[in-house]
Amino acid sequence: MAETPRVTRTKVGIVGGGPAGLLLSHLLAKQGIDNVVVEKRDHETIANTHRAGILEQQAVRMLTDTGVDGRVLTVGDEHEGIDLRFKGESHLLHFPELVDATVTLYAQNEVFVDLAAARKRDGGDVRFEAEVTEVLDLETDTPKFRYRDISAGANPDEVFEVHCDILVGADGSRSFCRRAVGSAQGHQDFKIEYPFAWFGILTEAPKSSPELIYANSPEGFALISQRSETVQRMYFQCAPDENVDDWSDDRIWSELQKRVDGPDGFQLKTGPIFDKTVLNFRSFVREPMRHGNMFLAGDAAHTVPPTGAKGLNLAFADVQVLFNALESFYSSGSRDLLEAYSDTALKRVWKAQNFSYWMTSMLHTRADANPFETKRALGELETVTSSRYGQQYLAESYTGWPHA
Ligand code: DHB
Repeated sequence: MAETPRVTRTKVGIVGGGPAGLLLSHLLAKQGIDNVVVEKRDHETIANTHRAGILEQQAVRMLTDTGVDGRVLTVGDEHEGIDLRFKGESHLLHFPELVDATVTLYAQNEVFVDLAAARKRDGGDVRFEAEVTEVLDLETDTPKFRYRDISAGANPDEVFEVHCDILVGADGSRSFCRRAVGSAQGHQDFKIEYPFAWFGILTEAPKSSPELIYANSPEGFALISQRSETVQRMYFQCAPDENVDDWSDDRIWSELQKRVDGPDGFQLKTGPIFDKTVLNFRSFVREPMRHGNMFLAGDAAHTVPPTGAKGLNLAFADVQVLFNALESFYSSGSRDLLEAYSDTALKRVWKAQNFSYWMTSMLHTRADANPFETKRALGELETVTSSRYGQQYLAESYTGWPHA
């Protein structure tokens, strides 16, 4: 016999307790707008999931100016540019000089940790290990979701229900909320796959260079990023089905070094590798980012390839637009901004899709590529780096367009 669900009533029900869901929850709570967040994973798992690390200035401000935490400024590292490396030569783009902006290197799992701590500090209702099994009544004034408590020792038959005015799906790229509605309900998915993936490592080593290096080489793309003075993050283009067990530390270092080799004799600083992961990616957009009173935000609605680190920044931009709409709804009763949410957010989404696709295709190489294509991409890199306008175009997109 089905048990009677235990019901919680709130204004905004948020599915997904990653950075997007938690930031929205934090902003709403500051305005006195009651909300509940449920997240399938436990805190530990998310805190230990390594993802990208570049925050636009506006994303940093959303953390500092709203009282989440200042750790992003003390632990994070401000960066004034990137090094675009091709044909074995480095080309430094200096963001302050080009577009009067900087970015901050601060790992996404740290962002999560800060947001989760802030919600706890402020008495937020965030329920981890809560697996959503159903979304209901999305086209009514009381959308709902059901979940089960999957934490150790919980009763798996007990059903919980959250009733809200507005349901937010911020539940990541495999979004349950998104998949609950489909093309029959007027939705369309746009996507492309890439014939390569990234091999990501964490290593105990000093920094190899002051700025991040985005390297194009005949062997494929490499990204030399950082985490701290003693821990570095690096990636190299690999096959989507690459097996991490086939890669010894020596083999990884030799592969990475090949991709940054050049007449300047640049050498990576190496050390023990303590984390190896293959990261698959695609370009994906769901339109519209809404169904009735359910609104999608972040990876639930769109994912970008990682080149250029737009993912989290784009999620925060969605959160800003959605927060503005919810604030307006609760203060004036007007639904205008909620009605406009999807169109407003999608403008930036497609700009970021374009930028991420462009950076990816310009910097990666394909084993099966027509040599014309490889040469053309080098022509593109020359165009961008040899002109102030080209450099500004990249710098403006990388550091982030103004929020709506
Ligand atoms: C990192 C990841 C990216 O995709 C990127 O463009 C820059 C930095 C990182 O993990 O540090």
